[in-house]
Amino acid sequence: MMQHDEVVPVLDFGSQYTQLIARRVREKGVFSELVRPDISADELRKLKAKGLILSGGPSSVYEPGAPKCDPKIFDLGIPILGICYGMQLGAQVLGGQVKPAKAREYGRAKLSVTSDDPLVHGLPKDTSVWMSHGDQVHELPRDFIALATTPTCPFAAARHRSRPFYGVQFHPEVTHTPRGEQIFQNFLYDICKCAGNWTMDNFIEQTVKRVRQQVGNGKVICGLSGGVDSSVVAALLHKAIGDQLICIFVDNGLLRKNERELVESTFRDHFHIDLRVSDASQQFLKELAGVIDPQQKRKIIGKEFIEAFKREAQNISGAKFLAQGTLYPDVIESGHGYAGTAANIKLHHNVGGLPEQLGFELVEPLRELFKDEVRRVGQTLGLPENLVWRHPFPGPGLAVRVIGEITPQRLSVLRDADEIVLEELIAADLYRKTAQVFAVLLPIGTVGVMGDARSYDSVIAIRAVESQDFMTADWARIPYDVLAAMSNRIINEVRGVNRVVYDISSKPPATIEWE
Ligand code: XMP
Repeated sequence: MMQHDEVVPVLDFGSQYTQLIARRVREKGVFSELVRPDISADELRKLKAKGLILSGGPSSVYEPGAPKCDPKIFDLGIPILGICYGMQLGAQVLGGQVKPAKAREYGRAKLSVTSDDPLVHGLPKDTSVWMSHGDQVHELPRDFIALATTPTCPFAAARHRSRPFYGVQFHPEVTHTPRGEQIFQNFLYDICKCAGNWTMDNFIEQTVKRVRQQVGNGKVICGLSGGVDSSVVAALLHKAIGDQLICIFVDNGLLRKNERELVESTFRDHFHIDLRVSDASQQFLKELAGVIDPQQKRKIIGKEFIEAFKREAQNISGAKFLAQGTLYPDVIESGHGYAGTAANIKLHHNVGGLPEQLGFELVEPLRELFKDEVRRVGQTLGLPENLVWRHPFPGPGLAVRVIGEITPQRLSVLRDADEIVLEELIAADLYRKTAQVFAVLLPIGTVGVMGDARSYDSVIAIRAVESQDFMTADWARIPYDVLAAMSNRIINEVRGVNRVVYDISSKPPATIEWE
C-alpha cells in the first residue's frame, strides 16, 4: 500500500461486500484499502491508520479455523468498527459470547435506535437496514452498551463502554440500508476525526508527483484503446510528463464507426499528445479471413495486437516505461491487493505479454482506483463527457459481434447498424442509464418482402444490458418506441438487413457478448 496522509483500512474477512465498504469510505472522502485479516498491529501502526473497519465474512467466529485478527489491534487506541462478522469477532476478543441466531436473519429489518451515541447520531428513530447473518452477538459483556435493536437482534448496533470499539450486525455499506452512509459519516468524522482529504484533485496532484519520480526524464509509451481507463491514463500522464508520453493506437480494422477519428481528435487535437496510429487493419483482416471460432478469433487478435504494438513501439527510441490502466479491482482479483504482499500485476488482456517481451517497466497510475473514481479523475482532467461515460468495448472489437465469418462488407453492415442503435439510445437519453448497448450481426439470412420482391437478407440483434460490475447483467427494458426507431432506421438505412431482433437474456446464463 502506498503511504497516504490518512487511511482507514478494511480488514477483509471474506464478505462479498468488502470492496463496497472501501468504496463507501472513499465516497466520504477518506482513503481506504483492503488488507489481510491477520495484518499485525505493528503494520497498521506503520500505515498510520486513523481507524479500522472489520468486514463481514461467511464464517462463524466459534467455528474452528475461522479467520481471526491480531488481538493487539484492539490496543492500538484507534477506533474500530466491526460489521457483522467483524462485530462478532470484536465482541469475542473483548469477552462477549456469540451464538447462532435462532433464525437465520437475511434481508430487510427495522432498526430502532435506542441511544444518542456518536455512531448512530443523526439516524431516524426507526429506519430500515439490511441483515445477512446466521450468528449474532447473543450476550454482551457488561462493558458493552446497546445502541440500536431490531425485532430479532437485541444488539444490532453496540459499542464498548471504555474502548473505541463499535459494531453493527447489519450492513451499512449496501444500498438496502438507506441511511448507512450516516454510520460511515459518524464513524469517520466524529469518531476517527478524519480530515477527509481523499479527493480526485488531491489524487491527481499526488499521482503527478509519483509518476515524475518514477520515470524521471524517461519516455513512457501508453497503449490507447479509446476506452475510459486508457484515456484517463493518457490524460493523467500527459499532465505529469507532457512530451515524454507517446501514445500508440492500433487500428485493427474491428473498430466502431468513427472510433479512430474520436481518439485522434481528442488526444491529438485537444490534448496535443504525441499519438502514433498504427493502421494494421489489413493484416488483422487477412489473418481473420475464414475464421469463425470465437476463441480462435481472440487468439489471432491478441497475437496481431502485440505484433502491431511492438512494430510501432520499436520506432520510439529509448522508451523504458509502459503505462497500463490497471484498476484496484484487478489488483484485488489477482489476490495481491493486500498491504505487505508483493505487488502482482494482472495484465490488461490486450497488452498482455508486452512488458516482458519489450523489457518495459510498468507505470500504473490507476492501481488504487475504483471505476467510478477513474471517471471522476477523467472529468477533473477535462476529458469529454462522451469518453468519460463510455460503455465498455471488448478488446477483440467487432470481431466478436460479427458472428461467423469476418469480411469487410459484414463489418461495414454491423458498423452502420451499431451507429444507429447508439444514436437512438442517446437521443432517448438512455446511454447513461444502461451499462452496455450494441448491435450484433447474425450469420443467417431470413426472408423479407421489399416492394414486390422477396429478399433474403441479414438479421441484426440488439443487445442492451444493465449491470453494476458486468459479472451479472439484466437485459435492459428499453421502451418499445425506442426499439421501434432503432429497428425502422436499421432496416431502412442499412443495406443487406431486413430483420431486427431484441435479445432478452440475462447473464448468467447468457453472456453480454454473443461470442
Ligand atoms: P461477457 O460477454 O463475458 O462480457 O458477459 C463481460 C464484459 O467483458 C467484455 N468482454 C471482453 N473484453 N476482451 C475484452 O477486453 C474480450 O475478449 C472480451 N469478451 C467480453 C464484454 O464486452 C463485457 O463488457
